[in-house]
Amino acid sequence: MEDPHQVKLVIPLLPLLLSLVSVVFSATDPNDLAVLNEFKKNMENSELLKWPDNGDDPCGPPTWGHVFCVGDRVSQIQVQELGLKGPLPQNFNQLTELSNIGLQRNQFSGPLPSFKGLSKLKYAFLDFNNFTSIPGDFFDGLDALEVLALDGLNLNGTTGWTFPPQLGNSAQLQNLTCGDCNLVGPLPDFLGNLSSLTVLELSGNS
Ligand SMILES: *[C@@H]1O[C@H](CO)[C@@H](O)[C@H](O)[C@H]1NC(C)=O
Ligand SMILES: *[C@@H]1O[C@H](CO)[C@@H](O)[C@H](O)[C@H]1NC(C)=O
Ligand SMILES: *[C@@H]1O[C@H](CO)[C@@H](O)[C@H](O)[C@H]1NC(C)=O
Ligand SMILES: *[C@@H]1O[C@H](CO)[C@@H](O)[C@H](O)[C@H]1NC(C)=O
Repeated sequence: MEDPHQVKLVIPLLPLLLSLVSVVFSATDPNDLAVLNEFKKNMENSELLKWPDNGDDPCGPPTWGHVFCVGDRVSQIQVQELGLKGPLPQNFNQLTELSNIGLQRNQFSGPLPSFKGLSKLKYAFLDFNNFTSIPGDFFDGLDALEVLALDGLNLNGTTGWTFPPQLGNSAQLQNLTCGDCNLVGPLPDFLGNLSSLTVLELSGNS
């Protein structure tokens, strides 16, 4: 039997103790956690991620596998070539501290969510997956983008895909690769204004 006097003392202290614990360990930002949970939930084979069941602190310590953080914010997800199947969550662009995403060579499917506002994103490796389309506002505010890889994506099916004008605002872009990505029509003039561009690989398109 527990001593009732002891219980009374412990209960008022609990909120204080919990808030101290979360300050010391800086638990992961709740928005970032929500996106990662959605990411996992959407995967047909999420066991390949080896993320903990009912885990609530991807930034740890310890951090979840394939996840990197700066403080309590997710800065990278690196899941290349794991065989993951499923769509990305539509709230993906709430990972506003994301700087590097490596999704290449999986079977991610469905429409890509908007990356609008991911102003820290430098490296986006989305190539060789089963994504079906890129929304029109995908490139809004991607001011830091240096490397974009979209090779092997069959974008926008029968209509084909063209680079949206907003990509022209990614002035730091160095590597733009979109081989066999279902590009159609003329190349936009803004490509000529991207003065950092050193690699442009667009073979296998129309
Ligand atoms: C992805 O595309 C490949 C090649 O077309 C196909 O074999 C595979 O079944 C697709 N996977 C999914 C999950 O759609
Ligand atoms: C590609 O498809 C998406 C989703 O339907 C649409 O929002 C976007 O405008 C399309 N892009 C082009 C260039 O047709
Ligand atoms: C950019 O492209 C160059 C030339 O292909 C390559 O050496 C470099 O590794 C690429 N950068 C990244 C980050 O992929
Ligand atoms: C390219 O840059 C020049 C000079 O800043 C500007 O006048 C022009 O509108 C730009 N062209 C495109 C297609 O963005």
